[in-house]
Parts: sequence; C-alpha cells; structure tokens
Amino acid sequence: MRTRVLSGMRPTGALHLGHYHGALKNWVRLQDDHDCHYFVADWHALTTHYESREVIERNVYEMVIDWIAAGLDPQRSTIFLQSRLPEHAELFTLLAMGTPLGWLERVPTYKDQIEKLKDKDLATYGFLGYPLLQAADILIYKATYVPVGEDQSSHVELTREVARRFNHLYGRHPDFDSLVAAALAKLGRDDARYFEKQRKAYGETGAADALAKGDGVLRKASVALSGWAPADTELLSGHLRGSGKTILVEPQALHTEVAKLPGLDGGKMSKSYGNTIAMREEPVQVEAKIRRMPTDPQRVRRTDPGEPARCPVWQFHQVYSDESTRTQLAAGCRSAGIGCLECKQPVIDAILREQQPWRERAAELTADRARVRRIVDEGTERARAVARQTMAEVREAMGLDY
Ligand code: TRP
Ligand code: SF4
Repeated sequence: MRTRVLSGMRPTGALHLGHYHGALKNWVRLQDDHDCHYFVADWHALTTHYESREVIERNVYEMVIDWIAAGLDPQRSTIFLQSRLPEHAELFTLLAMGTPLGWLERVPTYKDQIEKLKDKDLATYGFLGYPLLQAADILIYKATYVPVGEDQSSHVELTREVARRFNHLYGRHPDFDSLVAAALAKLGRDDARYFEKQRKAYGETGAADALAKGDGVLRKASVALSGWAPADTELLSGHLRGSGKTILVEPQALHTEVAKLPGLDGGKMSKSYGNTIAMREEPVQVEAKIRRMPTDPQRVRRTDPGEPARCPVWQFHQVYSDESTRTQLAAGCRSAGIGCLECKQPVIDAILREQQPWRERAAELTADRARVRRIVDEGTERARAVARQTMAEVREAMGLDY
C-alpha cells in the first residue's frame, strides 16, 4: 500500500512562484509514489479572513486551477475542499475536549502571526484553535507524511502530541486483549514469540532497538502475510508501545529541500509584501518586474563591479540557471563585463518558459469551470469515505456510539 501524504493551502490569493518552488513542485513530485491528498483549507483561511469572505470565494477554485496547471493530476491525487467535510469539524471538536490550552498558546506561530498581522484582530477562539483544526485535517486521514514549510513544523509536532494523547486516553478497546491475541496468532508462533519478547524488553527498558525490532516484525507481516490487514499493524503497534490501540497515527513533517525562491526585493516572497510574481502573471508583467528588481546596491553604475552574493537576482539564478551560466554571469558581474539587464534576461526567459505550460493548462480549465468543480466534487467524495471511516473509529473509541 502506498503511504498517504496530506497537505493543504489557504485560498487567500493567487498562487505565486514562491508557492510553486516552496511547496507545489514537491506536491507534484510526491504523486509518483504516494497516495496524495491535497485540499483547499478554506476554514483556515477564515481564521484570518473572517471579515473578507469575498477573498476566499474568489480564490478557492482559482487555487485548484493553479494546482492542476502546475501538474497535480486529479486521477492520482485526491483534491478536495475542507468545508465540504464536516467530519474535520467534528474531529476538531472532539480533540478540543482534551487538548490543554497551554499547548495551543505555546505554538510559536500563534504569537508571531498576531504580531505580524496587526491590522487584523486575531484574538479569536478560532485563531487559537488553528493548529488543532490542522491536526484534525491530518489525523482524520491517518496521513504518514505532511509536506509543509519549516514554519509549519510546530503544527505537525502538536498534531503528533494530540494523536499520542488521544491514543493514550481512548485507545483501549473493550476487546483489546482478545484482538491482540488474534493478531498475534496470525503472525505465527515464532514471530509472535519474538514480537512479545521485544515488547517486554521495550516496556521494561524503553530500548529503541527493541521497538525497531518489533516494528520490523509488523513490517514483514504486512508484506509477507496475505491475511494481514493494516488494522492488525495498528493494533500490534499500539500493543508494542503499551499505548493500547493506535487509532490516530502520528504523522511526520516532510520539508522540501529546494533552493528557496525569494521575493523580488530579496525578502520572503509574500503577497503582503507586494514582491511576488504570480504563477499566471502576464509575460509583459514578468519582464517588467524582473527588469525593475533591485540588484547589488554597491553596483550603482554599469562600470562598477558587482558581487552576486549581495544581489537578489542572483538567488533567482540559483533556482533558474545551470552551473555554467552561473559561472559565466558571476564572472561578468565581478568584472563589470556585463550589465544587470543582460544578467536578468536569462531569468526572464526561464520564468516565461516555466510558466508556459501552466498558462495553457489554466486557460483550458478556466474555459471549463464545470470540469474543475467536478474534480473537486469527486475528490471530496473520495476523501469523505476515509474521513467517515476514521470518525466511526473515533466515536467508538470515545464511547459515542450509543
Ligand atoms: N496551515 C497550513 C499553511 O498555512 C495550511 C494547512 C491547513 C495544512 N491544514 C493543513 C497544511 C493540514 C498541511 C496539513 O500552510
Ligand atoms: Fe546582480 Fe547580475 Fe547585476 Fe551582478 S550583474 S548585480 S548578479 S543582476
């Protein structure tokens, strides 16, 4: 079975090259060998934009168009809309009951964002709950990997703690012992005995290698035993850890290791700084924006030698140019052999080339909005099947299946 990947983006504006190089490119790549789920986090957008619903309305389907234009394949990836799945809200509510307030108040993005977005009143209940809603998004799909930027690490960490706490509080099935015995029987006598030995060792000493060996037995069973089910792995994984049944799975953050594309001014590319190039920016605009970009501040005249390390354009070359072009341009810059406009031209060309297929695919989709809606409808129904299943397990674990 392919491991499940889940991520979301907030529909608060047109996607730009920073989104593409920082996230979307990686999302596209992950489709090749993972079971990917990507969703429009419109509720999360509302936590900061509750006074500007038109921004969100305008951007939900536009963002999906950007995604598909960039190469997300609706056949392979499940693309869906958060607000169509009340299951996320239900899990959020249930998790909220046992989540200590301090866990949320201590998430670093909480105070940071309140500081940064001073023009918005973020002293709301919804904004404090932001990372917990994100935890619900992730846990409801039992995602293994969550591709996100470094700024989201603390949210994934919180998700792991919430899952651990949930499993600890509610992971003891009434028939836990007999279910464990049945799953152990499937392993066969030798493996079951070896597994139990590792479990005892881990329980007594906390030895990491005992845990790894126990997990190894489960991994082997999941590929080699035909009657083995993912539920068996979940059950014995909980048994091994002494935490009862694993109902909610702890996810891992997956950070992209790509050269970061800064904004036109060299800072982080962000709509609020007005330093972006949209994925679907008009070619003349792309050209004008790059031509206006600041360069090495010490290179005032064409005849002044420059230093690429001080120049924001150079960071674009790190993303868009190959080694030999860079070597040439750097020498030209340092010797004042080339002018800045000359140096910028290959960047302009590369961006236009990159955008060309996006523009074509986006034009097709814009002309057929019914198709975009259908893609989201279908993805949402696929997601719903998974979300419902998890919620049935969660309700049962919490004793809500009266
Ligand atoms: N908070 C994420 C961001 O701002 C968006 C998001 C919401 C998300 N729910 C998620 C990302 C679940 C990954 C998984 O980028
Ligand atoms: Fe920047 Fe290129 Fe000009 Fe050097 S020549 S300052 S690297 S734009």
